[in-house]
Amino acid sequence: CGIVGYVGHRDATPILLEGLHRLEYRGYDSAGIAVVNRGKLRVTKAAVRVAELRSLVGDGYPANIGLAHTRWATHGEPTERNAHPHVDPDGRVAVVHNGIIENADQLRAKLTAEGATFASDTDTEVLAHLVAARVWDGAESLEDAVRAALWEVEGAYGIVVLDVRNPGELVVARNGSPIVLGIGDSEMFVASDLAALVRHTQQVVYLDDGELATLRTDGYRTSTLQARRTDKTPTVVELTDSDYALDGFPDYMRKEIAEQPEAVRRALLGRLDERFSTARLDGLRMDPHELRSVQRVKFLGCGSAFYAGQIGADLVEQLARIPADAESASEFRYRNPVVDGDTLYVAVSQSGETADTLAAVQELRRKGGRVIGVVNAVGSAIARECGSGVFLHAGPEVSVASTKAVTNMSTCFALLALLLGRVRDLSVADGRRIVAGLDALPDRIEEAIEAEDHIAEIARRFAGARSMFFVGRVRGWPVAREGAQKLKEISYVHAEAYQAGELKHGPIALIDAQMPSVVIVPDDELLAKNIGTIEQIKARGGPVIAVTNAMLPSGLADAEIRVPHVTEELDPILFGIPLQLLAYHLAVALGRDIDKPRNLAKSVTVE
Ligand code: G6P
Repeated sequence: CGIVGYVGHRDATPILLEGLHRLEYRGYDSAGIAVVNRGKLRVTKAAVRVAELRSLVGDGYPANIGLAHTRWATHGEPTERNAHPHVDPDGRVAVVHNGIIENADQLRAKLTAEGATFASDTDTEVLAHLVAARVWDGAESLEDAVRAALWEVEGAYGIVVLDVRNPGELVVARNGSPIVLGIGDSEMFVASDLAALVRHTQQVVYLDDGELATLRTDGYRTSTLQARRTDKTPTVVELTDSDYALDGFPDYMRKEIAEQPEAVRRALLGRLDERFSTARLDGLRMDPHELRSVQRVKFLGCGSAFYAGQIGADLVEQLARIPADAESASEFRYRNPVVDGDTLYVAVSQSGETADTLAAVQELRRKGGRVIGVVNAVGSAIARECGSGVFLHAGPEVSVASTKAVTNMSTCFALLALLLGRVRDLSVADGRRIVAGLDALPDRIEEAIEAEDHIAEIARRFAGARSMFFVGRVRGWPVAREGAQKLKEISYVHAEAYQAGELKHGPIALIDAQMPSVVIVPDDELLAKNIGTIEQIKARGGPVIAVTNAMLPSGLADAEIRVPHVTEELDPILFGIPLQLLAYHLAVALGRDIDKPRNLAKSVTVE
């Protein structure tokens, strides 16, 4: 979900709506806004996208303070009554909230027993009731009322609260769900994400878990839940509004696919050491001795970050010969894993806010595990919790379906694997080969994107398929998984990834003329095996789209997507590019809403 709030001297409504527009990639089931005008809360909300909310609001009411929300439903259906802001029955307090209040049912029962009536099915409304009860009870300040209400609450939240009788201030609080303050000139902003702030200010303050803040036109003050004042140093962010512009592209996904050569160049900048044929990753804060002490590497992430982690594990095993694997953070956090001191844990996340990944990091730290972050969003919870790691430098990613962040994740893993390898037994010559391959990668990605028209044609040809297989072996397996994920996410065509060798042990029963398979065929020592896989599929009448940089026997595949050559260890990074374009053009052919795929959100800050 996305949160935005404003207090200052300008008209709040356009600022809030523009902020919501910037945050829509965080959720778009419903949206709402509340401002204070002539001593009254004016709330507009509906199960609509931000553009429609804008027309519902029209010119709105003149106001200098307000808050707004765009929702990704967790508790309660995405309907008007469940849309935020939520207001207490007297219309005094308005709340917008990200996260989940775990004891909402108990609190609701208690309040109902005391005579309260509820207007929605959400956990958030409970908060509005609790805060309102405290302000009516005569809490000394809105901040005190919010603090007292939060003492009763268990769970995760990022909230902004407004009291109509106190129209000069907003109170915000964070516990597990991001809140960033933006410092303006006689005005203050707050949002769940930088995207809504950088249009107005580059000076921001990240709230920590367990912190509250009161915002007024002339500034802010922060404190803990225990009412101790805290001292915050504002951070100056480099992002500006133009980093979020579409620049003539039809959508963010296509824009971000095109940005990949540049994004990878940024990820490599200053990190390739040609003299010693290794990588330089200062953010790791590990000396060679410490690097050599790593006996095992484990990558943890969710969704695409998990699949990228699998590419990372392969790279580490190949280049550094250290046992490595990847696991979804959502499983890891709940299965009481063995945490050992010789393992290097790598938390992977574009947003740095994914609740499951953050929880895995916290669990690791509790148990004394060594954990680094490979994260895109500087200042995010995972980056801060890890304290050391590698930033992706992909720039802001807006499309829900991740492209450039995933490519940069794998690129950073190649750097990490190279570094770990070169303090062990990776030779200078092999190190040099990898350095040269990485150096050439941005240009090769550019060439891979040039195949777009051909890929789009293939996508249109297969757009009628109800289901598709993505098949890969060893290096190609995580590539297939991410390819299937991308297709599912934005086209809603069912897609399943299989290991090439496993196909014959069950899934091949599903192959027929209506079930196309995308087969990943790198030009490596497994080429003959992968050609064999294609033949098995063809023998059952299944259409095959081969994604390859090898010379395949002519007529073997029904369609072929050519991938440029690069150092073969880096193939998985490059092979991802045509699969992004395939998913993209298939979704376009089906008329899907590319940047707002149904049921998804860019960053899932709840369990
Ligand atoms: C969500 C998104 C996925 C993403 C995953 C992990 O589920 O829809 O596209 O891969 O979160 O996000 P992260 O920000 O941690 O990389």
